Amino acid sequence: MEDAHCTRDPASFAASQLGCKEHWDKVYDRELANFHESGEAGEVWFGEDVALKMVDWVCDNVSDKGARILDVGCGNGHLLAELADSGFTDLTGTDYSPQAIELARNVAGGSHAIRFEVQDFLDAADVARIAGDGGFDVVLDKGTYDAISLKPQDAAGGPAVDQAAIDAYPQSVAASLKDSGVFLITSCNWTEDELTARFSGLFACAGRVRHPTFRFGGAVGQTVTTIALKKI
Ligand SMILES: C[S@@+](CC[C@H](N)C(=O)[O-])C[C@H]1O[C@@H](n2cnc3c(N)ncnc32)[C@H](O)[C@@H]1O
Repeated sequence: MEDAHCTRDPASFAASQLGCKEHWDKVYDRELANFHESGEAGEVWFGEDVALKMVDWVCDNVSDKGARILDVGCGNGHLLAELADSGFTDLTGTDYSPQAIELARNVAGGSHAIRFEVQDFLDAADVARIAGDGGFDVVLDKGTYDAISLKPQDAAGGPAVDQAAIDAYPQSVAASLKDSGVFLITSCNWTEDELTARFSGLFACAGRVRHPTFRFGGAVGQTVTTIALKKI
């Protein structure tokens, strides 16, 4: 993939437990137990405001309430619950952690608009299985590419990230989408320019969501980036 414009080498990220399935299985084990005890759905990654801005973007830009929408690495499924409340009827949430999928199913409480499935988004056969014939109109990602970008190269540990996983992810998104389908991603690891470069050749920028900015040493930045990319 062309990434000549990417301003940062992913080798500058240090691998982390956030890139490991065992970590997420433990997190969702805990959150599932907590849900059964208290009814709390668990963590909303990047907070409610960011989640609602993604939902608003979909409501403003996707007029067909029957559009096929996939949330990759859905965690507790809160984004899809909001979209179901907004009238969308064909929603799929996937995560490689079975515990996350069990939590999401419990939180959704049997909504007919949403189905949840275990899926490893870096496994091409699994991606094709979930996409089915035709693929999705919209793919959503809130924090999942960030987690994948921190996957250790070496299962035994060490700071090197798994470059193959970082490179495979855009291919999985493209394989999940229909022609001209849209990918809406929120990231705190990658800037807008970096995301556009990472997905170039397969996607073109189709919009952005504004988040509050901060100023540091005269430079203005955002703590999270949300952009829409259209499959080309
Ligand atoms: C930072 S959390 C975000 C969860 C959710 N999207 C949210 O906004 O609350 C990253 C999620 O990606 C999932 N994940 C990481 N690698 C994955 C992979 N290869 N395939 C599917 N899900 C993955 C994790 O299990 C976790 O639920």
